[in-house]
Parts: sequence; C-alpha cells; structure tokens
Amino acid sequence: MLRLTRRRMVQLTGLGAAAIGLMLSIPAIGFLLSPLFQKTRETWVRVGALPDLTVDQPKPITLKVPSGEAYDTTPVDRIAYLVRKSDGATLVLTNTCSHMQCDVHFDPTLQQFLCPCHGGLYDVHGNNIGGPPPSPLPQWVHRLEPDPQTGQTILFVKNAYDESI
Ligand code: FES
Repeated sequence: MLRLTRRRMVQLTGLGAAAIGLMLSIPAIGFLLSPLFQKTRETWVRVGALPDLTVDQPKPITLKVPSGEAYDTTPVDRIAYLVRKSDGATLVLTNTCSHMQCDVHFDPTLQQFLCPCHGGLYDVHGNNIGGPPPSPLPQWVHRLEPDPQTGQTILFVKNAYDESI
C-alpha cells in the first residue's frame, strides 16, 4: 500500500501547480515569440500617376510604404528613383546601397548614383560600376496600370524588393 506522507503531498502539490502554471503560460509565450516566426507583411501601395520621365534621367520620389515588420503597418517615407529606359521599361530603384545599406543619391553632373559611406558608384540604371557594392541597387517590386477614368498610368509599389534582379 502506497503511503502518502505530508512531505510527499507538498511535493506533489508543488509539481501540480508548476505544471498548471506552465500550461497557462504557453499562450503568453507563443504571443511574445510569434513576431519572430511571422513572415513580413507584403502589401501593394498606390503611389499615384507616373510622372513624366526623361530617358535615363532618374527622378526621385518619396514612397509611403509600410515597413512590413510583423505587426507594424505604419507607412514610412522611403526615397526611390524612377528611371525610364530607352526600351520604355520603368525602373523603381531603391536608394539603398547593396554594400552596407547606406543611402545613395544621384549626382546629375556625374550621371551616377554615389554612396557616401565607402565610395560606391552605380550607373543611371542602378548597376554597380565602382567601389565595394557587390550588386546593383535593389529595386522595388512595382506594377503600372492605366487608370480607366483618366487614362493616366498609375504606379503601384509593393513594400518588398525585387529579388529576381
Ligand atoms: S555602404 Fe555603400 S559603398 Fe559601402
């Protein structure tokens, strides 16, 4: 026959309380850790009518796009450069250097994007042509659609870089 001493009873009660406490804390732990496992939220943003662009003349614009970080849907300002290529294609370049993510700017005199951090250089299409950048400027995923009422070309941007480039 099993003898249940007072000490044993206190130990079992403590173990039971600990098990219940652990089970009750699982949802809270899951809630706290879930942002670590959540994919970024990608969303399309209507930027507006595509402005007139001159071939190979990058035009800066400010995008208001959600950061895409977990639950944060607050739009943040991001500088982008619109570029019309001679074949009619439109690029939406980020101003983020592919080396260590410093902000680049376009110098109209040199006709190049310059990175102030380590002297990275990019041509008007965002191709890396000098310095340490290992790859071209990232581009925003975008699409162009005609507005059925005004006939204008509307630019939409996704809060994500185009990984295929
Ligand atoms: S961060 Fe641009 S060259 Fe290093």
